Formats: sequence, structure tokens, C-alpha cells
Amino acid sequence: MSNRYEKSEKMLVRAQQVIPLGAQTYSKSITQFPKGISPLFATHAKGAYIYDVDGNQFIDFINAQASITLGYCDTDVNKAVSEQLEKGSIFSLSSEIESQVAEKIIQMVPCAEMVRFGKNGSDATAGAIRLARAYTNRDYVAVCGYHGWQDWYIGSTTKDLGVPNNVKELTLKYHYNDESSLEKLFEEYPNQIAAVILEPMNIEYPHPDFLRNIKQITHKHNAVLIFDEMVTGFRFANGGAQEFFNIIPDIATFGKGVSNGFPLSVIAGKKEIMSLMEEVFFSFTYGGETLSLAASLATLNKLQEKNVIANLINKGEFIIEKITYLINKYHLQDVLSISGHPTWSFLSFKEIEKYNSFMIKTFYMQEMFKQGILVYGTHNITYAHSDEDIEKLIQATEETFRLLKEYILKDNLKDKLECHPLEPLFKVR
Ligand SMILES: Cc1ncc(COP(=O)(O)O)c(C=O)c1O
Repeated sequence: MSNRYEKSEKMLVRAQQVIPLGAQTYSKSITQFPKGISPLFATHAKGAYIYDVDGNQFIDFINAQASITLGYCDTDVNKAVSEQLEKGSIFSLSSEIESQVAEKIIQMVPCAEMVRFGKNGSDATAGAIRLARAYTNRDYVAVCGYHGWQDWYIGSTTKDLGVPNNVKELTLKYHYNDESSLEKLFEEYPNQIAAVILEPMNIEYPHPDFLRNIKQITHKHNAVLIFDEMVTGFRFANGGAQEFFNIIPDIATFGKGVSNGFPLSVIAGKKEIMSLMEEVFFSFTYGGETLSLAASLATLNKLQEKNVIANLINKGEFIIEKITYLINKYHLQDVLSISGHPTWSFLSFKEIEKYNSFMIKTFYMQEMFKQGILVYGTHNITYAHSDEDIEKLIQATEETFRLLKEYILKDNLKDKLECHPLEPLFKVR
């Protein structure tokens, strides 16, 4: 049998000689794409499609870790970037486009009265935490989701190698949809918690009043409420999850979709707090790099002009409805479920008697990749996905579910796996 991913695998051998793990982003590495069944290296991408080095074409539902919301190489974004490239990507002085994008974000995002830019999402979350610590003159922070690679957050996970214990101790955990777990932290650490940070939503919808209660508890204890809107921003609504749920935080952080795949992140929030950034050191050579800002302005204009989010929601609702139907049709309720917002829905793989969730997920990916769908369980919808692309996703999902059910019943799923299954290394959602 010919190996569909032969060139990818050769390229991995070469990359691993010079690049630890052979990848720059954990979620693009072989820890997430099992060798043997996965494309590993891309050559290019356009619209809803990505092409690997073996010449395989996939409809992409990962979309560069949800940083693409309009589609790859969006014509309007690329035009804006090309025009900016002629003027210069960076200067020895600040430039007007910084204010233009800041003003646009202030117009769109409810909590935004002032704005600073970073490059990766982790810049923004780390900056927001430092700002909250400075504002409150306290050290502890309370977390319940994923917030990037920096010490202050990653030290609270199992991927904490290299993070000093003193830093780890300052990050406390509470649970999503469980206000009492946050209350408890404030009781245990009175007047010591600077910030409460959370993704306003990922897999689960917030219970009624959860976000309102979190805000109330946070403010009762004079701490700063930070919404990490890295994924939900410019995806759930033009003003992010804070607009969608109508709960306005003190500070919010954005990245990914703010610039349709160009390296830009954002800290936005109340003037009273943001002004302190004149003193809090948040400064880097590529802050204000203009190509990403031009991409952002074009992206944000397009979101407003084309009613992009309504389009994403329509397609995403269709996917949730169809996949729910398929889970029931193939009696897979004990094996799988689908949840999340239509623009970012999740398949959750469950533990069953003979097979663990990672085995089931690996089989799912293997069969979806074979059918030309790049997906690892989330459906990150873009404006570029056509109705036909969505239909192909549903067809491939049906075939995968049909096989999954058959092999679970025959008890031969393990034999049908063409690679080592994913390992339960690091799960943040
Ligand atoms: C909610 C959230 N916060 C922070 C980050 C970190 O962003 P970055 O990887 O761009 O540093 C991510 C990235 O996936 C994220 O999803």
C-alpha cells in the first residue's frame, strides 16, 4: 500500500534533526498528529483548503489553531497587507495604523476603552496579568482555562517543566461553571488575588448567571476580571463573547481571528486600568509591526461589512444539528458528544469499556484525514467554507461514525488503527 504521507514523514525526520519536536507549535506537532495517518507539513492554503507536501488536499476545520476566520489568503486581507508592504513593515517611529486599529477595536468591543498590541496571544495574557497585579498590588491569580505558554500560566499545568516553584504557587485554579470554587479561593487568599481570568466559554455554555456571578465575586473582592477572548473574540460576535453573553469584563485579551492569521494580539479594557500600561513594561521590537495591523483592519472591516459572524453561526448550527443526528443514528451516545458554540463546536471523545478516548479520537482523525478533511475534533468555521465543504464534512463524519460503530461492536477497533494512538499528555479543554 502506498503511503499517502510519505513526503511528510521524510520531512519530519529532517526537521527533527534541527528542530526539537519538529514543529514550532505544540498543537501542530506529532503529539497531536499521529505519525502514519497524518499530514505533517503544508505547502500552501487558500480559502477553505490546505495542501500537504504529498499533494493531498484537505478541507480545513482546524484553520491554523482558529486564527483563520475569513479563510486562508483572503483577497481583501492580502490586498491590504500587500499595499502596506510597499510602505514598510516596521519603522523607527510609531505609525498611524496603530491608532486606526485601536479605534476600530474600541468601536467593536464593549470593554475596550484603550488598547495595546502584542504578537502572540501569550503576550496579551501575560501583559494583562502583569497589569492586574500592578493595578491591585497583589500577586495571586485565579485561572480555569488555557492561557498560553508563559510561566505564570503554564506552571499551573502538567507542562510545567522549567517554571520556578515560586511562580507556580501564585496561580490558583477554580472550575468553570462552579462559582463556589472561586469564592473558596477568595476566602483562602483574602486580599491577595489580583485577577480572575477565564475563557468566557469553550466546550460548555456558561450556566445562566455564571459569568455575571464571576464578575460580581471578582469585584466584591476588588480584583480585576479578565476575559481571554483569544478564540471567542471576533468569532462569537463582532464584540466577542462579552457582547454575545452581555457581560463586560474589565480587561479582555484577543489574538487569532483579530487579524485572520497574521501575528497580532490585543489587550483591551477600561481606561482607568489600561492607563497604568504607561508604567507597566510591555514593550517589544515588533510591537506595532504594520503588516499584521493592516491585516487586522481589513479583517475587522470585513466582519462588519459582510456580516461574517452570522454566516459562521448558520453553518455551525447546521453542523451541530447534523452531527447530533448522526451520533443518534449510529447509537454512539456513549462514545461521543458534540458541544460548544456553532462557530467553534467540539466533539468530545469518551472513555468506553474497551477503548480510551484517545484511541477513539485517533481513529476518528485517521478516517477523516483519509477522506480529505483536516479536523481534530473541533469545527472552526470560516467564511470561506462553502455549503459543499460543509456537506463533505458531514458525509465524511457519517462514514467515520459508521466504521467506528462497526469496529466497536466487532471489538476490533485496535486492529483498525494504523498508528500508535495519541497519548493523554496534555489536555487543556
Ligand atoms: C484561550 C487562549 N488563550 C491564550 C492562548 C495563547 O495564544 P498564543 O498561542 O497565540 O500565544 C490561546 C492559544 O491557543 C488560547 O486559545
